[in-house]
Amino acid sequence: MNDGRRALLLGAGSQIAPFLSHRLAESGWSGEALSRRSPPLTPPLHPAFAWRPHDAASPGLVLGAWDTVFSLLPLWLLPPLLPHLQGVRQIVAFSSTSVHSKASSPDPAERALAGRLAEAERKLLAICQATGMSCSLLRPTLIYGSGRDRNISLIAQFIRRHGFFPVVSPGRGQRQPVHADDLATAATACLQLPAPQGLTLDLPGGETLTFREMVARVFAALGRRPVILPLPALLVRACSPWLARALPGGYSPALLLRMNQDLCFDATPASRAIGYRPRSFRLEPGLLGGDHRQPSKS
Ligand SMILES: NC(=O)c1ccc[n+]([C@@H]2O[C@H](COP(=O)([O-])OP(=O)(O)OC[C@H]3O[C@@H](n4cnc5c(N)ncnc54)[C@H](OP(=O)(O)O)[C@@H]3O)[C@@H](O)[C@H]2O)c1
Repeated sequence: MNDGRRALLLGAGSQIAPFLSHRLAESGWSGEALSRRSPPLTPPLHPAFAWRPHDAASPGLVLGAWDTVFSLLPLWLLPPLLPHLQGVRQIVAFSSTSVHSKASSPDPAERALAGRLAEAERKLLAICQATGMSCSLLRPTLIYGSGRDRNISLIAQFIRRHGFFPVVSPGRGQRQPVHADDLATAATACLQLPAPQGLTLDLPGGETLTFREMVARVFAALGRRPVILPLPALLVRACSPWLARALPGGYSPALLLRMNQDLCFDATPASRAIGYRPRSFRLEPGLLGGDHRQPSKS
């Protein structure tokens, strides 16, 4: 990696941003990190990356000149920003394996999300090809590791609050949670590629486990005995219209039914292209967000 180069990080509040800023700074990079709100303080961005407020959806943008742009934004926000950048030779952008896994979801909103991602990937690759910018598209599975993810940390939050976790029986859908720092390492590894024109890589985590095992690991990391409430799949399906209104935070009932669907992806192409070697799924209370104190009763 070259020393003293300048990078722009779009999506400073992403869980990947702190890890990426540290990995880049270790190799002599500096620059700016942009998002609408100031990013959370833990874990912090490296001071080599100054935060600047920025709304990707607003007109009249000034993004300036950079060697490399890393996008941690929802991918569809990126293609319209490209005309506002100057002199950029390389883009490393995060998409999602949802492009595969939500394409045939029973929930129309999830299918639309997969479609938006796929369309954004096509647009980005086409623009980069036309303008001679090299582009790496990275598709992670479910991300954890900063304590502020909406996957593992939310499971931990539910367990802390209620003492149990509901799993649609038998909860055998396979998962490959990926640590945000492994994604940061993968993104920086793309800098070493010989000018790739449109490389797209799935980035699963280093361990495959069932949804139920994943939940049991969260209980263990919280120092609790697993209390898993089995929900009959037929009942969840029958209650889907009600659940669509009742679930908090815009979560889809399809998410519950996916607990029995394998969401596994092949890391071999990423391993060959960029030496990708993600860690196994290891949890400590510090990775779970919220209140890390041990519960008084188990
Ligand atoms: N979370 C997952 O498990 C997961 C799984 C697969 C792929 N991914 C992808 O991986 C990347 C990072 O995911 P993440 O969950 O860490 O990120 P995230 O929490 O969704 O954060 C995205 C970042 O984009 C910023 N942002 C959103 N809308 C914006 C706008 N209009 N203008 C400027 N900034 C905007 C957000 O900050 P502000 O809101 O403050 O602007 C935040 O800094 C994303 O591309 C995501 O789609 C995530």
